[in-house]
Amino acid sequence: MSFDYNRLAATCAVESPGHAITLPPEAYGSDELYAAEVDKIFKRGWIPVCRVEQLEGPGSYYSIDILGTPLVVTRDRANDIRVLSRNCTHRWMEICSGAGQANVLQCPYHLWSFGLDGHLAGAPEMKNSPGFDRKDWGLKAFRHEVWKGFVFVNFDGQATPVAEQFAGLEPLVDPYDFENYQIVETTDWGVCDWDWKIMVDNFMECYHHMGPHRGSLEDEFPAKLSHTGDVGRYFTTMWSQQADGYPAEVPFLAPGAPTLTPEHSHKLLIFIAYPLLQISLGPGFMYWLKTLPVGAGKVEIHLDIAMSPAALAAPDLDERRSQLVKSICDIHREDLDVCAAVQKAVRSGVTSTGRLALLERPLWQFYRYLGRELGIISTTADLAGRLTARI
Ligand code: FES
Ligand SMILES: [Fe+2]
Repeated sequence: MSFDYNRLAATCAVESPGHAITLPPEAYGSDELYAAEVDKIFKRGWIPVCRVEQLEGPGSYYSIDILGTPLVVTRDRANDIRVLSRNCTHRWMEICSGAGQANVLQCPYHLWSFGLDGHLAGAPEMKNSPGFDRKDWGLKAFRHEVWKGFVFVNFDGQATPVAEQFAGLEPLVDPYDFENYQIVETTDWGVCDWDWKIMVDNFMECYHHMGPHRGSLEDEFPAKLSHTGDVGRYFTTMWSQQADGYPAEVPFLAPGAPTLTPEHSHKLLIFIAYPLLQISLGPGFMYWLKTLPVGAGKVEIHLDIAMSPAALAAPDLDERRSQLVKSICDIHREDLDVCAAVQKAVRSGVTSTGRLALLERPLWQFYRYLGRELGIISTTADLAGRLTARI
């Protein structure tokens, strides 16, 4: 049976957050819809790949698969960053894996070797092949840009510049000195059995603090004090406000940049820069929920954890770092069971759509983004949505 886009459009076109409903359940497990998401959203958008500090100096490389495409991010001798195909131009073997430092990336199959700028540097026994010219056989390069320390790739090469798409986020993130946060821990949660949109739904609302996080977050960051912040065509933001009477403590809320106001010390900024950059940010830390869709109802998850320059410079770094990593991973574990259960419902054939709370306004924004990018709701409807008063 083919996917019912009219039913999906009915969710995406709801014009007021007060009347928002969930996506139809089948939207979380449809191969047909996933193929459309790949074509119209992931390949056209900016997909975050890694942080610049994960490429330390000339000769460094970082391998990652995105949408089934093997990529390697490199810094060449001139320190320029590139996003290259990891498939050898001879017979497509993967030329490297993992991350590290190298003068050249040498394919393990027939030992062709490539410079970090992608050029073919050596090809054993090929000099006898008529007309073979090494300069014709460099690695394929993908369009990339860097924004606030994140390296992004755009597969179709047609996206408007990343800094333009996310310009509205800059006044929010710049006071944190966000660009200079440094990754201190990467964690790998493997391929998880739910859709990338279930991960976004869960990440972009604090309503569930009263459920799975009732023992960890709800007292200090109660669901009812969360609220939607600025929104734009390519991003949605949300604030999670600390309850009265709690101090601004390490490792989340202190220490922070001198450009922050006292109010920043009592709230967290949570945002999605569409389609996939999901960030939770405070004065002392940032974590990046790195979701890599691998199919309908399947997503590979990494959690990369960073500290602010102020937090990195303060005493007792090791202790604060351990505390930060443990707290974030514990909270993330609390989310896993609910995501799995929601996907199980989808697979069981549940058919009804649900009604969203006002606290879930960012999901309404997300669905409007989906509808617009998939071409199933009009841009006019989107503008009406953007102008709706904040709650
Ligand atoms: S596939 Fe790489 S050298 Fe043959
Ligand atoms: Fe959560």
